[in-house]
Amino acid sequence: MVVVTGGTGYIGSHTVVELLQAGYQVTILDDLSNSNIEVLDAIEELTGVRPEFFEVDLSDAAATASVFEQIGSEADSTIHFAAKKAVGESVQDPLLYYRNNLFSLVNVLEEMKKHDIRNFVFSSSCTVYGQPDVCPVTEATPRKEAESPYGNTKSMAEDIIRDASPVEHFNSISLRYFNPIGAHASGKIGELPVGIPNNLVPYVTQTAAGIRETLTVHGNDYPTADGTCIRDYIHVVDLAKAHLQALKRIEDGRMDSAYEVFNVGTGNGYSVLDVVNGFEEATGIKVNYRIGPRRAGDITQVWADTSLANEALNWKAELGLKEALSSSWNWEQNYRKQNA
Ligand code: WQD
Repeated sequence: MVVVTGGTGYIGSHTVVELLQAGYQVTILDDLSNSNIEVLDAIEELTGVRPEFFEVDLSDAAATASVFEQIGSEADSTIHFAAKKAVGESVQDPLLYYRNNLFSLVNVLEEMKKHDIRNFVFSSSCTVYGQPDVCPVTEATPRKEAESPYGNTKSMAEDIIRDASPVEHFNSISLRYFNPIGAHASGKIGELPVGIPNNLVPYVTQTAAGIRETLTVHGNDYPTADGTCIRDYIHVVDLAKAHLQALKRIEDGRMDSAYEVFNVGTGNGYSVLDVVNGFEEATGIKVNYRIGPRRAGDITQVWADTSLANEALNWKAELGLKEALSSSWNWEQNYRKQNA
């Protein structure tokens, strides 16, 4: 059985669907701070299975221990998504991020040790590279000073897992996500719009839906072809499948050491304006935007060299930008209909 922390969240829920459809048994641990319980209904509709669910604050050691006591020896793997991930919020409230993201991680690892759960897949981020000197970035590209407390928690988490895994006999893989976008083709799960979106694609879809007046493009004076920042946007379903492939690598005993790291991106970089134009091509909807000032903390460009993941995980992103953007629009429309 696989314990999925943060399993009602955006990437977590898409990964739970893939796990269930691949025949895994899943138990979700989530505090519902950035998701809601109705996601379980959608997962059940999509897979015919309603995973066991525990609402728990994983930064609370006693509460986490109590849940793992109830899970008992059924679990052999953990996929750890549970974390706060809003860059801006982390700058405003660093202690919230260090407590939540790091205490949760250590509590989960300690419970895994107690219950002899050995296999661990961690949700890391390309943010650990900061502004790389050269793109595409490989896993050997040096990590840089994080641009935010959020990014720092990902870097520190990787170090905690790296140090603990050989000593505690964990088999751990960190997946460094690039920019997750898109939604399940069914339109039943996606990124829940909570407040004003920080990220580009939800802001684009909400502008297209008339919920936001205008998209502000944060700067077009960067040293790139069209002056806007470049990112590696990966479809969340491709990302979810990478987690299954990582788990299979561990289960098949193919790891070269107790701790491995993989870039999970498409290998292609797209600018902000590529995304805006791509959305219009994919949906026929013109997005109202204006050029505004640069956003503090933004890096100019980053995209992945994915050859290590392609080979070691036997995984490659298959869905392109257009499919991701049209699935995002489909989700936006379905979500609004369901929650009108
Ligand atoms: C992408 C580009 C913006 C909004 C962050 C985290 C990363 C991950 C994803 C959590 C940038 C521009 C955005 C808008 C804009 N975090 N933009 N107008 O900053 O690359 O990555 O979110 O999962 O770890 O670092 O993603 O989508 O916020 O921005 O012009 O209204 O879009 O300036 O160039 P980012 P993003």
